[in-house]
Amino acid sequence: EVDMAKIRFIKENLTVEVPDGTTILKAAKSIGAPQGDRCGGVCACSTCHVYVLEGFNNTSEIEDEEFDILDKAFDVRSTSRLGCQAKVHGDIAVEISDESFQAFLDEHPNDKEAAHKLRGK
Ligand code: FES
Repeated sequence: EVDMAKIRFIKENLTVEVPDGTTILKAAKSIGAPQGDRCGGVCACSTCHVYVLEGFNNTSEIEDEEFDILDKAFDVRSTSRLGCQAKVHGDIAVEISDESFQAFLDEHPNDKEAAHKLRGK
């Protein structure tokens, strides 16, 4: 039996349950949360930048590669992670950064209106 973890995307008020070890980015995609991923999830762009506001200890450890890319992100905080690198091992609550939301809009011009509505602005 696979352990499940719950991820809540705070600004969009979306919650999804995923198998332990799933990345935040994969979880976001599975539920249509507007998170960017310009490099396709290979730790090379920082457009998947999120803040883990609850349950940070329930995420995988940050590796050197992720630190290097996070260094180039905007408005980096102690709660910052790359959604494509952070795996969940328990319940967490996540805020998709403005940088990441903007990247999503750029990548999905047809979903702009729906994404803004979800985000509440
Ligand atoms: Fe590019 Fe995560 S999607 S670093």
